[in-house]
Amino acid sequence: MSTGNCSLAATKCRDSARSLGLTYLLHVGRLDWTKINPDIFGSMIQAVAEDKERGELGMHYTSVPNILKVLNPLFLDDLRTKLKEAGDSVRMLLNLRKRLARIRVFDPACGSGNFLVIAYKEMRAIEAEINRRRGEQDRASEIPVTNFRGIELRDFPAEIARLALVIAEYQCDVLYRGQKLALAEFLPLRSESWITCGNALRLDWLSVCPPRGTDVKFRADDLFETPLDQAQIDFENEGGETYICGNPPYLGNTWQSAEQKAEIRDVVNGRTLSAGFLDYVAGWFVKAADYIKCAGGVAAFVSTNSICQGQAVPILWPMVYGTGGDILFGYTSFKWANLASHNAGVTVAVVGIGAPGNEPRRLYEHQDDGSVVLREGASITPYCLWVLPSSLKSAMYLCRNWL
Ligand SMILES: C[S@@+](CC[C@H](N)C(=O)[O-])C[C@H]1O[C@@H](n2cnc3c(N)ncnc32)[C@H](O)[C@@H]1O
Repeated sequence: MSTGNCSLAATKCRDSARSLGLTYLLHVGRLDWTKINPDIFGSMIQAVAEDKERGELGMHYTSVPNILKVLNPLFLDDLRTKLKEAGDSVRMLLNLRKRLARIRVFDPACGSGNFLVIAYKEMRAIEAEINRRRGEQDRASEIPVTNFRGIELRDFPAEIARLALVIAEYQCDVLYRGQKLALAEFLPLRSESWITCGNALRLDWLSVCPPRGTDVKFRADDLFETPLDQAQIDFENEGGETYICGNPPYLGNTWQSAEQKAEIRDVVNGRTLSAGFLDYVAGWFVKAADYIKCAGGVAAFVSTNSICQGQAVPILWPMVYGTGGDILFGYTSFKWANLASHNAGVTVAVVGIGAPGNEPRRLYEHQDDGSVVLREGASITPYCLWVLPSSLKSAMYLCRNWL
């Protein structure tokens, strides 16, 4: 390319970056910033994305009620039950507080970080109640915001995710400890990066969210676009639990680029010859199952319900079962909807996977009147998510072998 062409290309690049920046700014100006919440960041990013980009990357943000369909059965319900059981027992409250401080939440398609922010805020509410019952309302939070990890392909939402968590920390401090203490500790803003900008199907999840230790190796810019020397960031979580969550991109097999198809092929790594029939979201289930096999944890994603229908079932689910994983809970199909102007128009389900324990499987079934009924049983089928009673458990094993 000649020097003239280079400078023309550079000018075009700068102009398009400026116009994107301007679009973001104009949209931001129209939002209500008094109560910054994930709906605002999510709708902002979804609204200003180009139609093509939005479709190709599955950039559709998840509403708070749908985020809770993932996070509640994944781990928040259990924490709230433990809080109730603890009553005013000083020892049980202390144990629960220690447990909270070591929980890692990891969203490997985090967009603007809404799952991470909601998880953080809900955990802070539980911690605040513990502190209230112990008469320690002023106590600083022991839940490190850096335990909320994410991967996001695009750098702008990745930066927003980190900013959103910093804001969430401040909001919680104001709410539970008062403005004076919150302000005293807010500045300087943390400059480390714990949200990874990269391709989740290419990155090693164990290094982004290691089961123990302090390992974080990735590249990112700080809020002001200054390149950082990546410090290793402590996970104050030795022995803690890991919960993987999110709403990874949906992309039917006919819409995937050659690159995306190659990513899925590499993730399944020879375990099936039919990877080309899978929705892109299936890659996240396989990566999560592999992660859990190595490091433990539980994962739940909002997903197109195609992974529980037709040809995808005998391709995807044997890979998950092959890691020792199982479907632990789920929400049956529901229509996708959020507050943004560009809705995805798909039917989705929530599926939670992990190592099977003795607890009953939980299936939340959407009813025609809009209510949700919880059914418990011995097993959940990957086909259409049906819960089976103990009497049919052996039929489930037969079905699995047939798969
Ligand atoms: C359905 S959105 C959900 C994002 C976020 N949870 C929300 O509700 O706003 C999926 C996100 O995955 C990101 N994404 C797409 N392909 C990806 C990949 N290969 N690796 C990591 N992130 C990816 C998109 O940019 C988008 O932000």
